[in-house]
Amino acid sequence: MQRFRRTRSTEQLRRLVRETVISPADLIYPIFVVEGSDIKDPIDTMPGIYRYSIDRLNEVLDEVKESHISGVILFGVPDHKDETGSGAYDDNGITQRAIRHIKKYYPQTLVIADVCLCEYTLHGHCGLVCDGHILNDETLPLLAKAAVSYAKAGADMIAPSDMMDGRIGAIREALDENGFIDTPIMAYSAKFASAYYSPFRDAADSTPAFGDRKSYQMDSANGREAVREIEEDIAEGADIVMVKPALAYLDIVRTARDRFSLPVAAYNVSGEYSMVKAAAEKGFIDEKRIVLENLVSIKRAGADIIITYHALDAAGWLREQI
Ligand code: PBG
Ligand code: ZN
Repeated sequence: MQRFRRTRSTEQLRRLVRETVISPADLIYPIFVVEGSDIKDPIDTMPGIYRYSIDRLNEVLDEVKESHISGVILFGVPDHKDETGSGAYDDNGITQRAIRHIKKYYPQTLVIADVCLCEYTLHGHCGLVCDGHILNDETLPLLAKAAVSYAKAGADMIAPSDMMDGRIGAIREALDENGFIDTPIMAYSAKFASAYYSPFRDAADSTPAFGDRKSYQMDSANGREAVREIEEDIAEGADIVMVKPALAYLDIVRTARDRFSLPVAAYNVSGEYSMVKAAAEKGFIDEKRIVLENLVSIKRAGADIIITYHALDAAGWLREQI
């Protein structure tokens, strides 16, 4: 008989044989930025998460700095929307101004710019729309323009989340042509059409005005196709590949880790966060223990990088444990 319980008998022994450890360095915190001033607007569907105007961003950036997490991913929420999402590639757009602000006052904070059109278009889709169809190739130059504009503003990394085919290649080429050969791309490679994104869409005001995103985001049922998406993004120049959402797709995270040698990121998305927060508010679960268990599971499945709205809380709890 194996005495497995020998190494479980005390916290010291359990700690000694622990296979997976999460560190603040693994974590990235998403931040929503809005136009206007003196705004710290709570998002009803995401308790504890706010939309900040640029003049109040320092409140959360101070917390980010203190937490020693690895960085932030920015989502701009513009006042002005149009058919072509021009706010995404306006050098003076909300995201560009937020990036410049952060790099000026917090030069050490890693700033990742999410690249997509949905927050900036009236129809709320991630690409250009014609006769109810989401156009692929016509969208690519706009995404590339947005990426270059964020890099110019000082973004340390570009993260395309649109799921158009060929966007990684188009963005890599545009970045290189504009002198940003050293700006890495974290590709949302296996991004599934998921019901877990709905709180985010409230936060970013990016719910599609008609239809859904199933013609460009992946079908939840498809694991092998996820491998092909990741292969293609690597071929087109991705430096980091992402699986999104995380918890319901840990098999995809594991497959990505086993099949590819690039860093793998997993996005613990808004719906995953809000379910935990809602259950915790009701007293049904222990928030701290659930969050740390979820995060260690994402890492154990193979993620090197975890994007999560729990990042600041988790970093605090991890510090307590040392
Ligand atoms: C924009 C984008 C979305 C998320 C990240 N970038 C929403 C979507 O595709 O509808 C989701 C993040 C989350 O739910 O936390 N394309
Ligand atoms: Zn989008």
